[in-house]
Amino acid sequence: MLRFYLLWLLVFCSVLSSSSARNAPYAMRISCGARQNVHTPPTNTRWFKDFAYTGGVPGNATRPSFISPPLGTLRYFPLSEGPENCYNINRVPKGHYTVRIFFGLVNLANLDHEPLFDISVEGTQISSLKSGWSSEDDQSFVEALVFLTDGTVSICFHSTGHGDPAILSLEILQIDDKAYSIGPERGEGVILRTTKRLSCGNPKPKFDVDYSGDHWGGDRFWSQMPTFGQNADQPRSTESSIKQASKSPNFYPEALYQTALVSTDSQPDLAYTLDVDPNKNYSIWLHFAEIDSTITEAGKRVFDVLINGDIEFEGVDVIKMSGDRYTALVLNTTVAVNGRTLTITLHPKGGSHAIINAIEVFEVIVAESKTLPEEVRALQSLKRSLGLPTRFGWNGDPCVPQQHPWSGADCQLDHTTNKWVIDGLDLDNQGLRGFLPNDISKLRHLQSINLSWNNIHGGIPPSLGTIASLEVLDLSFNSFNGSIPESLGQLTALRRVNLNGNSLSGRVPATLGGRLLHRASFNFTDNAGLCGIPGLPTCGPHLSTSAKIGIGFGGFFIILLLVICSLVWWKRRQNILRTQQLAARGAPYAKARTQLSHDIQLARHHNYGHARTAAENGPSLLS
Ligand SMILES: *[C@@H]1O[C@H](CO)[C@@H](O)[C@H](O)[C@H]1NC(C)=O
Ligand SMILES: *[C@@H]1O[C@H](CO)[C@@H](O)[C@H](O)[C@H]1NC(C)=O
Ligand SMILES: *[C@@H]1O[C@H](CO)[C@@H](O)[C@H](O)[C@H]1NC(C)=O
Ligand SMILES: *[C@@H]1O[C@H](CO)[C@@H](O)[C@H](O)[C@H]1NC(C)=O
Ligand SMILES: *[C@@H]1O[C@H](CO)[C@@H](O)[C@H](O)[C@H]1NC(C)=O
Ligand SMILES: *[C@@H]1O[C@H](CO)[C@@H](O)[C@H](O)[C@H]1NC(C)=O
Repeated sequence: MLRFYLLWLLVFCSVLSSSSARNAPYAMRISCGARQNVHTPPTNTRWFKDFAYTGGVPGNATRPSFISPPLGTLRYFPLSEGPENCYNINRVPKGHYTVRIFFGLVNLANLDHEPLFDISVEGTQISSLKSGWSSEDDQSFVEALVFLTDGTVSICFHSTGHGDPAILSLEILQIDDKAYSIGPERGEGVILRTTKRLSCGNPKPKFDVDYSGDHWGGDRFWSQMPTFGQNADQPRSTESSIKQASKSPNFYPEALYQTALVSTDSQPDLAYTLDVDPNKNYSIWLHFAEIDSTITEAGKRVFDVLINGDIEFEGVDVIKMSGDRYTALVLNTTVAVNGRTLTITLHPKGGSHAIINAIEVFEVIVAESKTLPEEVRALQSLKRSLGLPTRFGWNGDPCVPQQHPWSGADCQLDHTTNKWVIDGLDLDNQGLRGFLPNDISKLRHLQSINLSWNNIHGGIPPSLGTIASLEVLDLSFNSFNGSIPESLGQLTALRRVNLNGNSLSGRVPATLGGRLLHRASFNFTDNAGLCGIPGLPTCGPHLSTSAKIGIGFGGFFIILLLVICSLVWWKRRQNILRTQQLAARGAPYAKARTQLSHDIQLARHHNYGHARTAAENGPSLLS
């Protein structure tokens, strides 16, 4: 009994400990272009060798900044590999992630340095590189906080015609689901792109890992901010430990609160201005801890926080709001910015001085809807069967980011499902040599298909007849053969059909031909042998091959029979003519014939009598 009880206790304890101890967050780091896994100092971080990319070329890297991970290779994407290229990483657990991409510079003399390109995560554009990025440390990477819900992450690079995108590394680091939550109504539909992170009063840039931060923090990068400038402030620092720092959901490193900037008598306001993209919403996170030994109680330091001149937080009293000295206080707010600058001002009240420990600014990006997955698969199948050249790219999502749709595919947002769908295919005159797959019909929102002036061969897939919305079908000047599928007749919306300039044969479906009356424009000319509508030859009877063979043989026998019959008839007629001629000459021949038959009869009787006699006389006669 006691043993049983102990066992129970053991099980209970192990369940308790496993539920209270948190798993390590998911972390995937890729060293782009690397052929082997790489381990980097100082923490022996593991970077997986290059995988899951759609194309590109591995090369040797120049790191644009000393804060870039110490990796020697990169992957770059020449335009010949298509305008968009992606890393598609599978088996990523559902959750909230920091996605960070460091850029590289290709270590080759003849390549343009500092390429400019756009970056998207899960179909949402998160950044567009601006010239000069490679000379600013905190612009040598882009980082965004995203929710990943479907087990994959797709990170794409979009050429803008200014050099080849070159990528040093990718990091996909799980963070708390509630981290950086900016309000109850915003959730998975929002992406926060890191604009700036500053550690105030700190002379050196730091990552969370340098601060021994919690892994659930996502290894944030903090730029140094030793001073806001103009002798307006003084740095403060402390060795004392800070309460409430590394706590859920954001797990800020404690060291972040051990330095600060404090305003001076000469310049009581502390102000920080950064350049931003206009007409965007920004989420701002401000960090405070009272680490100044001269401020010992609530009410001694009170200030307002203004953003672009508007008061966002009034009468901030750090000790009062955090509950104590050496205790972390985080305030967050989201503001709309119309201009190109964002200014955060701390305005002290009653002769006190303002203090600030750290600042975070994020651009709030509404995540794009994606394309209906079955339509993406249908386009990928089309890409393969048509043998689409690599310069098309066709990687990532066909419709988003909206700035970079796939060329040749027209998109429309379906408001009922809130997914993008494909309503047009324009791949005319692209030198395509493949065939049209039957699953093109999965693109069931198509209104227009133009594949004219290519070299597409094979039959027209009958499944086209199930795309009910199809209005325009231009397959002219290709090598389509076989007959026009009967199913096309079901398409009541069709108003333009160009099948001219192919090798089609057989009957034009009557239902299709019948629509000629309704002001539709159809062109069936220049084919191997179409028939059955006005303007084309009339068709022979509609027959199967075996029927044709049957008819062939039948015809041959009829002709043979006719020949035999006429021969017989001719012979008979000849005989009759001759008999008539003989009769006309007095008929001696007829008399002779009568005589002859009489002789034959006589001979038969004689023979018969002879045979019987032989049988009666015995076998000896026969031998
Ligand atoms: C990269 O550098 C190594 C030597 O460090 C060299 O062997 C290799 O050829 C280089 N690769 C490219 C693509 O330049
Ligand atoms: C900013 O946020 C407000 C409120 O959520 C929203 O109405 C507005 O469209 C957003 N602006 C931009 C540029 O995203
Ligand atoms: C950020 O602010 C909003 C309201 O302004 C609040 O609901 C939310 O809890 C804050 N987030 C954190 C992590 O403090
Ligand atoms: C299809 O594209 C060709 C150009 O390649 C154009 O001439 C033709 O008008 C287009 N067809 C339709 C139906 O728009
Ligand atoms: C169409 O052409 C292909 C070769 O491109 C051939 O294999 C096929 O049999 C042809 N189909 C018909 C119905 O003529
Ligand atoms: C049909 O196509 C042929 C070329 O194949 C062209 O010459 C003719 O003008 C077209 N007919 C109409 C009615 O568009």
